[in-house]
Amino acid sequence: MRVVLGVSGGIAAYKAVEVCRRLVDAGHHVVPVMTDAARRFVGAATFSALASEPVPDGLWEGGIPHTRLGQTADLVVVAPATADLLARYAAGMADDLLTATLLATRAPVVVCPAMHTEMWEHPAVEENLAILRRRGVRVVEPASGRLAGGDVGTGRMAEPRDIVACVAAWFGAPGDLQGRRVVVSAGGTREAIDPVRVITNRSSGKQGHAVAEAARDRGAEVTLVTASVLEPPPGVRVVPVESAADMEEAMRAACEHADVVVMAAAVADFRPKASAEAKIHEAPDLVLEPTPDIIAGLAARRRPGQVLVGFAAETDDAMARGRRKLDRKGVDLLVVNDVSAPGAGFDHDTNEVTILEPGGRATVVPLQSKRAVADAILDRVVARLQGESA
Ligand code: PMT
Repeated sequence: MRVVLGVSGGIAAYKAVEVCRRLVDAGHHVVPVMTDAARRFVGAATFSALASEPVPDGLWEGGIPHTRLGQTADLVVVAPATADLLARYAAGMADDLLTATLLATRAPVVVCPAMHTEMWEHPAVEENLAILRRRGVRVVEPASGRLAGGDVGTGRMAEPRDIVACVAAWFGAPGDLQGRRVVVSAGGTREAIDPVRVITNRSSGKQGHAVAEAARDRGAEVTLVTASVLEPPPGVRVVPVESAADMEEAMRAACEHADVVVMAAAVADFRPKASAEAKIHEAPDLVLEPTPDIIAGLAARRRPGQVLVGFAAETDDAMARGRRKLDRKGVDLLVVNDVSAPGAGFDHDTNEVTILEPGGRATVVPLQSKRAVADAILDRVVARLQGESA
């Protein structure tokens, strides 16, 4: 694709150099367009050396009609997109080559916001983004982390590899989940004992986040319902939850129109029957009660044709227990992982699973990255969506 890479004036402009390189490496024809402020952070020569064309001098120099870039673009990516750039774009201004290009183009536009947390959370920025989203602009959400000046918080531009992955997922060759709505749950729920203490488990959320990222990269519209404290993959809709009750409510809402549901979350099986309003100061006699069986509820209410994937975290008799769960939960696929196996299960970057299906089919996925495991699971999901019987 012919991509105009807009760079506005934030410290994240240094990361835009890598976005440029990755887009070129991916085979795109990249034309960088820098605002004057961006040039204060990174020299135009750096982009000109990496891009397919040199950086145009600006709205008034260089002889480039200020609309030609926009009219000939297949895609416009603005990384970083500062609060100022977002405001000028939302207001329809065209006072420099980048905003003129944005106004002239009829190509899809992706913005990658980057700013300090206080600015990111300001109502003006939120309203400008809402305006742009309503106009069809895609947003690669910023991450949390260290910001310029030593601050820490949300507003850090997404990583270049994630920005380019979103571009590939959204505008690349249609993936085998193109246009499908995929809902994924991840992480370990936290059941309150009192305002300070919780009952939880060892799930980090990595496996669920990997499924969400893989589904995104295969073209799906992804909703991630997550109890994890890890940074979610950009380019997916994130619904943060804490307790099993929160997760049940979020999953019921998200799954109503879903084509695929993957319950990778480690939902607590039990919770305190009552949680104290104030911090307890003596050892409590905890009375536990079962939590709602979310996946069983989803199975009971599933849309016709919806593919439902459950997991089983076991430490003994994993396959036998997995088969029983497959039958009991009424799911299409049951992903069994022996979480006591070396390198598998909770918090590892790797996993090994067996994907069970009604009718006896079992797909063994040996120890490998959780992203590779996620793709193996989605391969079976796609087969089911395409009507392949077990
Ligand atoms: O998150 P990581 O650190 O990457 O670790 C990955 C993982 C080990 C958490 C993951 O691979 C995994 O196994 N997730 C499911 C863990 C779990 O809760 O398994 P279970 O056997 O207890 O539950 C069976 C299924 O029912 C699961 O799909 C679970 O989401 C679901 N469930 C469980 C309890 C409940 N009240 N409602 C549910 O829907």
